[in-house]
Amino acid sequence: MIKSRELSLQYKDGTYGLKNVSIEIPKGELVFITGPSGSGKTSFVKLILGMEKLTHGDLFVLDYNMKSITDKELVKLRQSIGPIFQDFKLLDGRSVCDNVLVGMRFLNIDSGTMYEKALIALEKVGLSHKVHSRVENLSYGEKQRVAIARAIARNPKLIIADEPTGNLDKKNSIIIFDLLKSFKAEDTTVIVTTHATHLIKDIKDSLHIQVEDGKLKYQEVIND
Ligand SMILES: Nc1ncnc2c1ncn2[C@@H]1O[C@H](COP(=O)(O)OP(=O)(O)OP(=O)(O)O)[C@@H](O)[C@H]1O
Ligand SMILES: [Mg+2]
Repeated sequence: MIKSRELSLQYKDGTYGLKNVSIEIPKGELVFITGPSGSGKTSFVKLILGMEKLTHGDLFVLDYNMKSITDKELVKLRQSIGPIFQDFKLLDGRSVCDNVLVGMRFLNIDSGTMYEKALIALEKVGLSHKVHSRVENLSYGEKQRVAIARAIARNPKLIIADEPTGNLDKKNSIIIFDLLKSFKAEDTTVIVTTHATHLIKDIKDSLHIQVEDGKLKYQEVIND
């Protein structure tokens, strides 16, 4: 699914986002990436999404070689990924449903099927009762769940969430982690970056990766 070898990202000003990281993430894995602020979590997410280009080493995402990926291939790759950003990137003034539909606009499917998929995704995140609400009237935790519904509606092979619980309290954070965990059962690979180490330490059947100063500090598989 994802494989890196001595992967580095050096930004234009010389700062390293990541330094010589070699890891392998199998298909269907649930992965938590932790590490202090500035350790390289978002840099890794950006490399996977092709938002930044690696400067050293190798990175393969869903069989695409990120060193030589073409613009056309990048569009295809991004269609297979459901990204969830900390600031949600939701459209104010539009309904919850519209915001989920936006995630499917480049897929080659008819509007009826799209609508069905949106409703299924909203049901999975427990927002069936908010389908027609305006997104700006939702609570913070509900907005995060809309962002998740948008990411999963297109049945991505990979869900990647950067700090999905950054501004949530403990109760809502657990709801989000449980949701993300449930997609593993559908054979979707799920990658989550988080500061909330205390909330993920007991989540079983997952791979925990810690980064520090752009380097891989340790990785550990937590089993039952
Ligand atoms: N566009 C950029 N140009 C230069 N340096 C950058 C850029 N983006 C990130 N960095 C630097 O790269 C390093 C890793 O940053 P990154 O955003 O990946 O950390 P992070 O682990 O996601 O931190 P946080 O937990 O605060 O979100 C930091 O030193 C940061 O200042
Ligand atoms: Mg970050």
